[in-house]
Amino acid sequence: MTKNKNNQAIWNTRIKKSASTLFQKVGNSINIDKRLYKEDIQGSIAHVEMLFKQKIISFKIKNKIIYGLNKIEKEISNKKFDFNKKYEDIHINIEKRLFQIIGEEAGYIHTARSRNDQVITDFKIWIRSATKEININLDKVIKSTIKLAEKNIDTIMPGFTHLKNAQAISFAHYLMAYVEMFSRDKKRFLNNLDNLEESPLGVAALAGTSFNIDRNYTAKKLGFKKPTNNSIDTVSDRDFVLDFLYSVSVCSMHISRISEELIIWNSEGFSLINLSDKIVTGSSIMPQKKNPDMLEYLRGKTGKTYGNLFSMLTILKGLPISYFKDLQDDKEIVFQSNDNLINCLKVFDEILKNSSSNKKRMLELANSGYITATDLADYLVKNHSMSFRKAYQKTASIVNFAEKKKKNLGDLTIEELKKIEPKLTNDVLKVFDLKNSINSKKSYGGTSFDNIKKMIMKYKKQK
Ligand code: ARG
Repeated sequence: MTKNKNNQAIWNTRIKKSASTLFQKVGNSINIDKRLYKEDIQGSIAHVEMLFKQKIISFKIKNKIIYGLNKIEKEISNKKFDFNKKYEDIHINIEKRLFQIIGEEAGYIHTARSRNDQVITDFKIWIRSATKEININLDKVIKSTIKLAEKNIDTIMPGFTHLKNAQAISFAHYLMAYVEMFSRDKKRFLNNLDNLEESPLGVAALAGTSFNIDRNYTAKKLGFKKPTNNSIDTVSDRDFVLDFLYSVSVCSMHISRISEELIIWNSEGFSLINLSDKIVTGSSIMPQKKNPDMLEYLRGKTGKTYGNLFSMLTILKGLPISYFKDLQDDKEIVFQSNDNLINCLKVFDEILKNSSSNKKRMLELANSGYITATDLADYLVKNHSMSFRKAYQKTASIVNFAEKKKKNLGDLTIEELKKIEPKLTNDVLKVFDLKNSINSKKSYGGTSFDNIKKMIMKYKKQK
């Protein structure tokens, strides 16, 4: 790249001294927002095409500018571009380089626009593609979760409430619960695209412009549906940033919840989940250890992501509308949350592919904690015309009795059961069978094996 001669700040006629070295060092954003270079160039090309169509610039100037911009894009892609901190951000870096390549005519590029509309245009386009990329990764995670669920339709485990054994479920049903969450995440991201349909380009600094521009034309060129309605709101609005950060936070929270559960279930106390050696790490002192660090990584990153959402909300709180330097931090926040989530989705996908259920232990645990008690109460209601509350009390007495005898409900004899409820017959014993218990939960959305198979089919068809 040729030596930059045009190295003064663009405002040097008005501001005689260059900014303090310290501020130049800390106030620039080039290392962060250079990630927007493609979107910036795309936006500039649409802008100059519009300026030409509206007879604001000549054919020759338009072509020269586009030639220069394309060359800059190649330089940046090929890592041949010298980013200069002195020029603050990606917009000025590109403009300065354009002057070097095509000369004074580069000065026409900024007609009827400001960095204020330029930066949000770039940012909206970037968030739009990032959103789509996240959904591609979510699809992969959904697919892997379903695959693991398919292998575990008949894996019986205790479902917990308060982390206490509650009722028998299939492990596949548990996994499919996360498929619901990830599908909502996908939908949430898709919904955000609706709020990214309006183009900011052309509102300029805050008031609009006196040039006869065509904002509909640039909107369409850049993949938006229409231009935004109010120029002041446009340069102030970062709601689309919050939507993105919130959606990332919710998705991250889902990953964190399953991570926490898998960490607990992988502990020796539970031993319900096996993690392959590929996804554990060792200890520097305890030779026996296999730690679920990757799951902990996922849980930890969620904290950072929440922090980013709160940083942005706090930056906006109390900020008068239009543009302020405070807003510049939005990019760093979004890029970090985005990168975290993409990494987390990839790591989690790997975890799903390298985890298996300890079926034997799951069944063993399901056979403790009287988890068929609700089944017994339901049976009494259905077969001995009791109210549910009455049946609940009878069952509680049977549980108390079993506990005293140190027996499971299924180990009680019919004679023992009859001592508490004389109407009972041998037929009752089937309710203590865990498979029967699971299969009886046929209500829509329940854990019966048939329901699970249907749900898995439904999701597989959606692909
Ligand atoms: N780098 C700035 C940002 O990211 C671009 C907008 C600058 N506008 C301004 N009036 N200083 O927010």
